[in-house]
Amino acid sequence: MLSEEQNRRLTEVGAGTPMGELLRRYWMPIAAVADLDDNPIKPVRLMGEDLVLYKDRTGNYGLVDRHCAHRRADLSYGWVEDCGLRCHYHGWRWDHTGRCLDQPFEEVSHPEARFKDRVRLKAYPVEPKAGLLWAYLGPPPAPLVPTWEPFTWRNGFVQIVFSEVPCNWFQCQENSIDPVHFEWLHSNWTRTLNRLDGDKPPTHLKIGFDEFEYGFTYRRILEGQSERDELWTVGRTCLWPNCLFTGGHFEWRVPIDDQNMLSVGWFFDRVPNEMEPFTQDRIPYWYSPIKDPKTGRWITTHIMNQDFVAWVGQGTVADRTQEHLGQSDRGVIMMRKTILEEAELVARGGEPRAVIRDPEKNVCVRLPIIGRDFFLKGYSAVEGEKRERTPGLAERRDFPFLTGQPEEIRVAFRRAMGLDPEKIWRT
Ligand code: FES
Ligand SMILES: [Fe+2]
Repeated sequence: MLSEEQNRRLTEVGAGTPMGELLRRYWMPIAAVADLDDNPIKPVRLMGEDLVLYKDRTGNYGLVDRHCAHRRADLSYGWVEDCGLRCHYHGWRWDHTGRCLDQPFEEVSHPEARFKDRVRLKAYPVEPKAGLLWAYLGPPPAPLVPTWEPFTWRNGFVQIVFSEVPCNWFQCQENSIDPVHFEWLHSNWTRTLNRLDGDKPPTHLKIGFDEFEYGFTYRRILEGQSERDELWTVGRTCLWPNCLFTGGHFEWRVPIDDQNMLSVGWFFDRVPNEMEPFTQDRIPYWYSPIKDPKTGRWITTHIMNQDFVAWVGQGTVADRTQEHLGQSDRGVIMMRKTILEEAELVARGGEPRAVIRDPEKNVCVRLPIIGRDFFLKGYSAVEGEKRERTPGLAERRDFPFLTGQPEEIRVAFRRAMGLDPEKIWRT
């Protein structure tokens, strides 16, 4: 059981809080590259800060204060020009470094004052990678945006999915090191929801947790499996500081503020060898709803939706003073302890773990991956048909993670996989 003070330390993300300062040492994915190509200006709230993300006509990405430094108009109603973002109220123009480029009336009435050189707007760096836009809110110099190994893979259909979840980010991240929930929240609950008969899903017999350079791995042995199985020898990854990595996909839990979290999913589906070479001009993105408007209840049909139901069910901010932790929570306990220590390290002026600054190292940062060959070498369509459905290691024909996939993305996915786009396939 934690004290109220410890619970607060784990959950508050504002600037100046211990966790807020720790999280500001890492790049956060906040939008899709294709989203800004469609809509060059986007209001964003990140770690309690109201900001505007934009792409100007030169292609510069900016992430600046939502409010103009003149008289505080909302810059998300401005417009982009060749360079920078123009405020719709009196026309002041700002660039992506926070410099003021124009003050139309000041320049007419009193040009020699060069007032624009004396005002600045809060601005943070943004970088594109793997179809995502990443923001860094920490002190300079910014580290590198990690090139996680799957970002270098070829011949995959990648899609990015966003959902806004109305609860604190940390209870979501605790789920990234919680192997046993899979058996209940996903396997058994799905079985109950769908009134399925047949064999019960295998139960967990043994779990293990290990620390590595970029976070923790969690390992499991299920009924019918042995210590030679990759679920035990490799495991899945709780990626530092706010991500789950399963091998084929990432789920970042990005704090919007203390009460809300942006779930950012990046999904890779290897196409069958027969469909190679396969490339994407643009990585598609979509927003997934989490509530059923007809009933007002949370959606429970898809894997990550089930996770969301569990997390929001813990309360807007889970009250960890009321818990009773058991053996299944060993990983959670370990991660809480480490993250609080890292926050203290940052408060003392230190550099926390998993910050990448060496460009050579960042060419491709390897992670523990179950079935790496499946992703690297692929498989033939015939093999794909027969393949045992090891979670994450089978050719997928639909999208099981989140509800509401747009039809055009479903069709593009099925074409990429060499499947009949007209056919609706259900497990
Ligand atoms: S408030 Fe933005 S230009 Fe005046
Ligand atoms: Fe889950």
